[in-house]
Amino acid sequence: MPQEVHPAGSLKQHTIWQDGQMPEPCTVVIFGATGDLTQRKLLPTLAHLFHDHPLPEGFSVVAFARRPMNDEQWRGLALDSINKYMPDNDKLDSDAQRAFAQRMYYCQSDFNDREGYQKLADILDKLDREKGTEGNRMYYLATPPTLDSEIIFQLGGAGLARPSGHNGDEESWRRIVIEKPFGRDLASAKKLNREIARVFRENQTYRIDHYMGKETVQNLLAFRFANGIFEPLWNQKYIDHVQIVVAESLGIGSRAEYYEESGAIRDMIQNHIMQVLCLTTMEAPVSFDADSIRDEKVKVMRAIPLLLAEDAAKRTVRGQYTAGVINGQPQVGYKEEKGVSPDSQTETYVALKLFIENWRWADVPFYIRTGKALPKRSTEMTIQFKRVPHMLYKPSETKGLVPNRLTIRIQPDDGISLKFAAKVPGAARHLSDVDMNFSYTEAFGIESPDAYERLIADCMIGDSTLFIRRDEVETSWRVVDSIINAWKNTPESAVHPYKAGSWGPPEADALIQNDGREWDNP
Ligand code: BG6
Repeated sequence: MPQEVHPAGSLKQHTIWQDGQMPEPCTVVIFGATGDLTQRKLLPTLAHLFHDHPLPEGFSVVAFARRPMNDEQWRGLALDSINKYMPDNDKLDSDAQRAFAQRMYYCQSDFNDREGYQKLADILDKLDREKGTEGNRMYYLATPPTLDSEIIFQLGGAGLARPSGHNGDEESWRRIVIEKPFGRDLASAKKLNREIARVFRENQTYRIDHYMGKETVQNLLAFRFANGIFEPLWNQKYIDHVQIVVAESLGIGSRAEYYEESGAIRDMIQNHIMQVLCLTTMEAPVSFDADSIRDEKVKVMRAIPLLLAEDAAKRTVRGQYTAGVINGQPQVGYKEEKGVSPDSQTETYVALKLFIENWRWADVPFYIRTGKALPKRSTEMTIQFKRVPHMLYKPSETKGLVPNRLTIRIQPDDGISLKFAAKVPGAARHLSDVDMNFSYTEAFGIESPDAYERLIADCMIGDSTLFIRRDEVETSWRVVDSIINAWKNTPESAVHPYKAGSWGPPEADALIQNDGREWDNP
């Protein structure tokens, strides 16, 4: 039967509450209310949730920030951001804007001021009484990571972390949402985790990695574990190698201060790419509950051997963009970006070759690339299968034929395609590659939920499946620390320049070509 085609613009609204389960009434407290994340992401997402999906009566938002403002001024500022950053086809009309604004309150305080947290407690108690929010609170840290420990400590001190109730019988919930980066190495991540644990239990802690909220990332599990035909092939017997690319066409924009300290390895590999790698390679969980899935992720990460200094130059390439042109637009070099040191050695590109030492993946190389200022924005994964054991066709008949490749496109143009050989019509026995294609939009005609919307909604109903557990963060840092340390100890693994708008430094091509393979550029 031909597949129904749903042109963009005619997409249906998605559902957001699992099995129609609405969350209990609650208040979302945003720390860092005037920052970039709140303005660009959190406010538009909450407004969208409020407008397009049923939210409980009394749902409220309290912003906690330093800037002096009253509720009315905050509402004005928040609506400006919502209007600016909500996609055009989602804009709220004036009635909806007014209704959402009425749910918003402001608490002005320094982050280290005990009295400010007391004031917050009073506002929250008042909302419980007047709006029926029942003591349920989601604390969202949208602040720079340097403030995490202080805010957590103060929340604990003000008694805001403990759910209300009698004799251990909890009558309400308190959850904390923490944005990446979770530390900047294993030691600082452990320290942060200890500080969190002094105040919040692990099941109250929701560490966000927004890649886990992407529909296509979650589909990796469905693809692998709900289909009989792929899983038997998903191992070292049939797979030659795997490539993961997370390419971005933008430079670092105005984030120099953060990026200089982080670089591509901390910004992308430690979190987003590691999560995608885990979902691609982990064993089947015993069930869909949060801990079963996270147990499997940790298990597979533990099988990644630490990088030795002597392998750094063979298995990794670091790059930094120089001036160039991307999509016809000039891009300045990284060192010329505002706020970047002119002799910066921060990497804006990383290529890696990793292994997973277990029965399923022994000897299968995983080639991973991520970079800023590349020719296009694209995240995808290629599973390349082994060639047939014996090729019946002559080399002249199979010229240019690539082995079977399964490409999972996470963004944009979400979908999956499988490349295989077919006979070119005619008398000769010539073969050519063809593609079997699945496109999300065409197949379902349903707009995918935004990653933040999915994750905030999951936190409201208390489902932590898509959030990162303490041991996951630490296990991932163990691997990433070994790479960073190997770089420190090997001058030959220096940062190589690449032109903005190219696919990275030539050294990265050599990394894969030395194994007789090629990058599969999106
Ligand atoms: C963020 C990184 O976590 O993810 C950014 O800090 C990066 O540097 C972004 O641009 C990429 O997210 P997405 O969803 O656009 O692929």
